[in-house]
Amino acid sequence: MERRRLGRTDIVASVLGFGGSEIGYQNVGARTVARLLGSALDAGLNVIDTAECYDESEVLIGRALGARRRECYLFTKCGHAGGGARSDWRPAALLASVERSLRRLATDCLDLIQLHSCSLTELRHGDAIIALERSRERGWTRYIGYSGDGAAARYAVECGRFDTLQTSVSIADQEAIELTLPLARARKLGVIAKRPLANVAWRYAKKPAEPYYQTYWTRLQTLDYPFLQKAPDTAVATALRFTLAAPGVHTAIVGTTKPERWQRNAALLEGSGAEPTLAFEQIRARWREVAGPSWAGQV
Ligand SMILES: NC(=O)c1ccc[n+]([C@@H]2O[C@H](COP(=O)([O-])OP(=O)(O)OC[C@H]3O[C@@H](n4cnc5c(N)ncnc54)[C@H](OP(=O)(O)O)[C@@H]3O)[C@@H](O)[C@H]2O)c1
Repeated sequence: MERRRLGRTDIVASVLGFGGSEIGYQNVGARTVARLLGSALDAGLNVIDTAECYDESEVLIGRALGARRRECYLFTKCGHAGGGARSDWRPAALLASVERSLRRLATDCLDLIQLHSCSLTELRHGDAIIALERSRERGWTRYIGYSGDGAAARYAVECGRFDTLQTSVSIADQEAIELTLPLARARKLGVIAKRPLANVAWRYAKKPAEPYYQTYWTRLQTLDYPFLQKAPDTAVATALRFTLAAPGVHTAIVGTTKPERWQRNAALLEGSGAEPTLAFEQIRARWREVAGPSWAGQV
């Protein structure tokens, strides 16, 4: 598994990381999570990303890691400790959330705490960033980051206060490739690509009922990439390589509920040769051809 240094941090991240939302939202059992993370660590994964509001995700990860905590980097987020729909960006609430994440993840120190997609107004206000800086001073986290998209993500890169940016990058979400990645690269921020497989939204024959998948599904109908007609593994491999070929991206955190997936996705990245560069340019060209002004980065 290829590893890349995460910007100016000392983290050398596996290009394929683990996204922790699916195990929380889909109530995956503790034994399955232990198998999932255990096999992924055995195969070279060293990045695990979760959040305070992905139901029991933090607890499941903390329990599954146990003594293997030292073998990986733990990233989490704050801002919705009361649940996904209820945000609270006041410093006291954020600090309490970070402390709770330490307990739930069963660790003394996080590798990264990220503001979980607060607005541009909230970022400009500044108190939320100060809370993250305070948690770093207190030794609760080694690095601080912003997770989100659009103008807020751009501000997060410009303001110079964050070590990392987590943002959506995929075949169906390319705004960041011009809006934030070049500047993040110039300023040596670590970049974590979220939703890197566009939720594999092309697997649905009809528009999915789940709103989270709908925007990507609709865009992919219009984009109509020929490679999506190929065998499922080939399509996933091309999509994943696209995200990892975007200049400035260091790691792509794929969400899954299935223990066998991580090793399979890792295998899809092997022996890629010269193909990704050509595919990358073709996918970019198609996006430029059809993407509308409303095709913004999806949180
Ligand atoms: N605002 C934020 O901060 C924010 C927002 C969204 C996401 N995130 C982060 O980004 C991570 C990833 O996002 P995501 O999970 O929404 O999107 P994703 O990684 O693009 O897609 C995940 C989906 O892909 C499927 N999948 C994975 N490998 C596959 C394969 N080889 N073949 C077919 N299907 C495959 C998984 O299904 P199976 O279960 O069947 O494998 C899952 O439904 C999250 O876990 C979270 O950590 C952060």
